[in-house]
Amino acid sequence: MAKPVVLVVGLKNQGRAHVPAFMRDERVQVAICDLDPKQVKDVGNIARIPDRYRFSGGTAYGAALDALSPLVVALATPTVTHRALCRQGAAAGAHIFCEKPLAPNAEEGRLLLDEVQAFGRDLWVGFHMRYMHGAVTTALANGAMGGISSVELEWERLLGRPPLGPLGFPGGPIVSDLGSHQIDLAFRWLGHPPVRYTAGMDAKPVRGSELYDRYGGLIVCSSRQTVSLNMSYESAIPIAERASLRVIGDEGKLLVPLMTAREDDPGLFLPTLNGEAFGVSLDGAVLGRATPPRNPMGCFIAQATDVITAALGGDAPTLCTGEDALRVVEVVDGLSESARTLMPVMFQAP
Ligand SMILES: NC(=O)c1ccc[n+]([C@@H]2O[C@H](COP(=O)([O-])OP(=O)(O)OC[C@H]3O[C@@H](n4cnc5c(N)ncnc54)[C@H](O)[C@@H]3O)[C@@H](O)[C@H]2O)c1
Repeated sequence: MAKPVVLVVGLKNQGRAHVPAFMRDERVQVAICDLDPKQVKDVGNIARIPDRYRFSGGTAYGAALDALSPLVVALATPTVTHRALCRQGAAAGAHIFCEKPLAPNAEEGRLLLDEVQAFGRDLWVGFHMRYMHGAVTTALANGAMGGISSVELEWERLLGRPPLGPLGFPGGPIVSDLGSHQIDLAFRWLGHPPVRYTAGMDAKPVRGSELYDRYGGLIVCSSRQTVSLNMSYESAIPIAERASLRVIGDEGKLLVPLMTAREDDPGLFLPTLNGEAFGVSLDGAVLGRATPPRNPMGCFIAQATDVITAALGGDAPTLCTGEDALRVVEVVDGLSESARTLMPVMFQAP
């Protein structure tokens, strides 16, 4: 009997991580689709995908859905296209795995989620960084640091990385593109408290683009826990990129590196608690199912495995649900609105 199909749509950048990740799983057959025939040709050849599973050109997506009735559609297309493509995929009977951010704004995200669910399909969102620090997530949930009062998010890129195009980034401004990964992690570690208000501001536009650069902000929860943000596309740093989360708890401070350009130094990826290594090593055995952060592809593989498991009716608690992803977009909307008006945005009445 033919295997169920995962149709990966959008192959230029992020889709190139998803194709090999899904291909690792023998429970499914992978098909590919892009408006741009070159992407289909390149990825199809590299991944040795048979002709009948390759679709390119203007009507490619509809044709692929008709021909294959996929179990899962995996979308790595620009964020503004997510709603229409999610709805079309769900209408064709597929569960949806969609790259982050779920939508350009919360209103569109809510409609998207409702539409997919109205077709009785599930929606999951590609927050692969959930798979980087599984041991930290487990330890914090087990009270390793006592109560957590705040999480501080930092993400800096050296000017010019990634190259800026006239249309900006497929994921949107910095707080939605990069910040949404960290906000998702922070809320997971804080235990998803309701948000009370957001406040923040951005600074000058990124050179050659309409996007703003530095974002500084604060998310205050009704539990009195806070998340602070400090991020920039144009930092004056000696390396191309660095990102981290600092978790402040009753029993210490935990520094969790997310990303650094200095991949030759594995020590940079080790979480530290009060300056000491936090009992996890880069050895996958110690991290359990979580993947050593040095190997981002491992995160995509673990995430793809979970998507297929969930689509086949199994349990995949690390996978980001549509509801969790929508909450992140709501918070990003609040932060952006605060930056626009220079006023806090209330989520709950005082
Ligand atoms: N998880 C992450 O860390 C991460 C990293 C980068 C991008 N992303 C997200 O992935 C998504 C895509 O980003 P990207 O950088 O890969 O974008 P991109 O612009 O580099 O590539 C998008 C591809 O989608 C194709 N496409 C567009 N509309 C299509 C349609 N209707 N049917 C078929 N193909 C279509 C384009 O031809 C292009 O090849 C965005 O939502 C972005 O936020 C996530």
